[in-house]
Amino acid sequence: MIITMGKYEYLILGPQGSGKGTQAQALANLLRIPHISTGDIFRQLAGQQSEFGQELDKILKTGQLVPDDITNKLVANRLAESDTNSGFVLDGFPRNMKQAEFLAKIKPDVLAIYLELSDEEAVKRISGRRVCPNCQAVYHLQYNPPRVDEVCNIDGAHLLQRTDDTKEAVLVRLANFHQQTEPLLDFYHQRGKLKRIDGAPPIDVVTANLRAILGL
Ligand code: AP5
Repeated sequence: MIITMGKYEYLILGPQGSGKGTQAQALANLLRIPHISTGDIFRQLAGQQSEFGQELDKILKTGQLVPDDITNKLVANRLAESDTNSGFVLDGFPRNMKQAEFLAKIKPDVLAIYLELSDEEAVKRISGRRVCPNCQAVYHLQYNPPRVDEVCNIDGAHLLQRTDDTKEAVLVRLANFHQQTEPLLDFYHQRGKLKRIDGAPPIDVVTANLRAILGL
């Protein structure tokens, strides 16, 4: 079923590997609205042969956050595009209080969805993740394998492991999540704009639960 009416403004929060990208894409497909992943945008920019691209590449590989002024501006520009008129699903933004306050000024009605997952499971998910370098489709060797080993179902490209999916970078990213992103749960809860969902069940079950709590 495809739903096309109304305005849907969502953001997905959660630790690394909790399924933000996976569920954001499912929700965006269902509602025919854009899936806006700051991670995907930064990875694309980091691949460019420019000084800025090289700086970004270093930040991403070590698992650090891109500076807020760059990130906020990029998101504001993306949200000003006309394809967001019926709504959007933000994935990976905001990640700290400054970004959340910035977003609240430009999009005050966004509903935050929190995907809960233990750090232990997050690390397992990340180590088995494979991505398509062309269309960015996300797979998991064990939980969501492609039909042909290491090959994208959509465009046949050879799947890769993300350069920040090393054990060292994942630990930095999880630490950043606990220190900087977790406080946003209170921020959205106090505004009556938080829905929590268990990210541990299989992908289809999480999608079904998500649709149920959103009434879709
Ligand atoms: P980003 O790309 O956002 O990475 P992340 O936050 O580390 O999140 P992940 O992509 O690792 O996990 P996910 O929750 O999306 O999980 P997925 O659906 O892929 O950011 C990358 C970098 O960009 C950051 O480190 C930072 O440098 C920079 N950046 C981005 N946003 C920024 C911001 N706002 N400010 C500053 N810097 C920013 O699923 C993971 C795996 O598990 C997959 O293999 C999937 O198939 C599998 N899976 C998913 N759900 C399930 C399930 N229910 N059961 C079993 N397997 C599952």
